[in-house]
Amino acid sequence: MCGIIARIGEGDAITKLVSGLENLEYRGYDSAGVAVQNGSGISVYKRSGQVSELKDSLVSSVPKGNVGIGHTRWSTHGPPTDENAHPHTSQTDEVAVVHNGIIENYTELKEMLREKGHEFTSDTDTEVIPHLFEQYLEDAPDNVTAFRQTVRDLEGSYAVAALVDGEDAIYAARQGSPLILGLDNGEYYLASDVPAFLDHTEDVVYFEDGDMAILEPTGVTMTDMEGNRINRDVEHIDWDPEDAGKGGYDHYMLKEINTQPNALSNTIEGRVQDGEVNLEDFPPGTFDNVDDVHFVACGTSYHAALYGQQLLSNAGIRAQAFRASEYVDASPGPVSENTLVIAVTQSGETADTLGALRQAKTEGAQVITVTNVVGSTAARTADEALFIRAGPEIGVAATKTFSSQAVTLSLLSVRLAEDIDGASLPGDVDEMLETVYDLPKHVDQVLETTNARAIAEKYTDSESFFFIGRGLNNAVAKEGALKFKEITYEHAEGFASGELKHGPLALVTPDTPVFAVFSGDGDGKTMKNAEEAQARGAPIVAVASADHDVIDIADSHLEIPETHPVWAGLLANVQLQLVSYYAARLLDRPIDKPRNLAKSVTVE
Ligand code: M6R
Repeated sequence: MCGIIARIGEGDAITKLVSGLENLEYRGYDSAGVAVQNGSGISVYKRSGQVSELKDSLVSSVPKGNVGIGHTRWSTHGPPTDENAHPHTSQTDEVAVVHNGIIENYTELKEMLREKGHEFTSDTDTEVIPHLFEQYLEDAPDNVTAFRQTVRDLEGSYAVAALVDGEDAIYAARQGSPLILGLDNGEYYLASDVPAFLDHTEDVVYFEDGDMAILEPTGVTMTDMEGNRINRDVEHIDWDPEDAGKGGYDHYMLKEINTQPNALSNTIEGRVQDGEVNLEDFPPGTFDNVDDVHFVACGTSYHAALYGQQLLSNAGIRAQAFRASEYVDASPGPVSENTLVIAVTQSGETADTLGALRQAKTEGAQVITVTNVVGSTAARTADEALFIRAGPEIGVAATKTFSSQAVTLSLLSVRLAEDIDGASLPGDVDEMLETVYDLPKHVDQVLETTNARAIAEKYTDSESFFFIGRGLNNAVAKEGALKFKEITYEHAEGFASGELKHGPLALVTPDTPVFAVFSGDGDGKTMKNAEEAQARGAPIVAVASADHDVIDIADSHLEIPETHPVWAGLLANVQLQLVSYYAARLLDRPIDKPRNLAKSVTVE
């Protein structure tokens, strides 16, 4: 988990590398570095801290170079020190490398290289790569062969970009970690994600596992690991570069919360027509042979999966949401071609989710992914992909993608209920599908009228924050708590409302506000559970429509428009996103880059 970038072409590379790294910082921000070829060796600049600190340290005396590589790190092997920052170099500084992923056999490689006289200066797994490359350069007939020998020795996952001193070229390879080529009229980029070079080009080539490439000023040569030439299609990305910037907001998170109406319009567009669900590659009958559904996902995506699971269970379909990291050990029972495994992942690169997805595929299940990123590993590995179309999400806290995932899964649940034998559509499905197009407008209403800031001010000094809900709103409560703890660093927990009395109630005091989610479904019991907490002194913040009965007893109220319960839960979630955002702001937290986290978790 890290972001890499590389660039070759006319003119100076450093500025483009650094601005690319700024757009990749959501992948990690412990340390950063760049290396350029400048006619007198490879110059490396790296340090612990964020990219802005690297940028400040790059004074005008930095030698220029037209070919370079860069890296922003999320530590896996060794703390975030200057020494552990990438790029890493070889024994004689002949080679410099940036790497995203994990080299599982680095200890053996290090040992072997030490025996040949190599000395290492960092704790990282990555450092073996430049040393190994340099070792192979000694005897290989050419540099390409030496690079191929190097990557073939690596076990684990990697997206690698390397420079060799004195050569106008970048060597690259992918196995298990994302790597994308950007083509811009004689200028070529490599990056872990498209926003790194979106200011320069929208024409991209996605590397597949086992792909290698040599980038030269004259063009790019792609091969497999045997050296056979391969051709990959050039794809045009229609992302607005503005989408990858803050667009005038103080934080990406606030921008992403506020642009949910647009994201949701894109998610929904064309997918409900004349009261029928229309899901591109999933026409009626697609799921005729499905008996069971497993969701695999992590974090926020897992909460969206819980939403999906609840809807399928309501339709009488056997469905279970698994935390992807637990799927292998959870023994969900034998899977077969009649098991549909749905991997829910915003990035499409989460290692735990990919692990579960691959296992399910190996065991013969039908595997689809619900993802935001076209060209992601999940989209390429699953049998089919259903895109949530939320646009790039940069803030580490997932916001608009949760809403778009939940809507996509809600529509998918209708298709599944139509297809699967014995399942039944909910009685109010017509109303649900009619009102889905109101959702962007209702989110707008929430954004315009919210009192979330005042609620955050009222309760931020509290000791703990509880979130409760029942059924679909259990998923919303859990998501509300995850968001809150992730960006405020305050203790927050989300519970099925009925669970409060089975333990958590012992923690309830006047200093533990309880955010209770009411969407018009199973609300009576949640109200009772909220009152039980209130009787122990906890202030109740009701997230509910204006005329809900709970308003008479609640201490505070976050209002949501009246709509179908499936969409009401998502409106409640927007209010909770805003409370978390304003609380984190009051506490002066680094909202877009919470400590110890990264947007895309590509390690297990
Ligand atoms: O990219 P994914 O949806 O697979 O990511 C899964 C989680 O890492 C992610 O949702 C995480 O929990 C969020 N940062 C929470 O806001």
